[in-house]
Amino acid sequence: MKKIVIALDGHSSCGKSTTAKQVAAELGYAYIDTGAMYRAVTLYFLDHHISLTNPKEVSDALKNIDITFHYNPKTGRNETYLNGLNVEDEIRKMYISNQVSEVSVVAAVRHAMVAQQQKMGKRRGVVMDGRDIGTAVFPDAEVKIFMTADVDTRARRRQQELLVKNQLVNLDEIRENLKKRDHIDSTRAESPLRRAEDADLLDTSHMTIDEQVEFVMHKVASKL
Ligand code: C5P
Repeated sequence: MKKIVIALDGHSSCGKSTTAKQVAAELGYAYIDTGAMYRAVTLYFLDHHISLTNPKEVSDALKNIDITFHYNPKTGRNETYLNGLNVEDEIRKMYISNQVSEVSVVAAVRHAMVAQQQKMGKRRGVVMDGRDIGTAVFPDAEVKIFMTADVDTRARRRQQELLVKNQLVNLDEIRENLKKRDHIDSTRAESPLRRAEDADLLDTSHMTIDEQVEFVMHKVASKL
């Protein structure tokens, strides 16, 4: 059967990754969480005290960063590895969420990540979620969906996700972080977060995950 690229872009914490994972599982496609890649770069930059305003430091650091995903049968999920080390839990912490958008503004970082994502999806048969998949990484994706939801709903969902990981974070702090990231992500010069002209808009504020998956699968069916 024909293999396609499914691009799910949108604001932070509106259900992109949960939807993407389920769609990928239903289709037997690979799921690529591009946000995890920017989070892993952020972790590396913080650990190595890389200055974002020093182009040489940034480009040298990028040469030393190897990001891969490996399936963990114990957790049943694809987990993120940075230079061979499992960083899946670390990159979800608030101190990374608080820095990741500043790191993601840097053009050299974006060029390196976009190139790697294009390689990963070269054979198609992928579901990618992020901010610039339908606009910059795969402008030719067969299915493009731009997801959003009201900020309070997103903050509550994010708080629940963190709670499951034993991280108790104040709702206001989460809401401010989401708003700040959305602002930086949509106003940066290099591949900003925006809806591609040919992307379908999906507001998940009042939708269940099953309904979101169904919406995407319906679009997919029309392209296969
Ligand atoms: O998807 P997630 O919320 O984990 O992404 C974390 C951050 O990574 C985003 O807020 C954004 O700054 C950056 N990002 C990006 N481009 C992508 C995916 C994520 O700039 N394709």
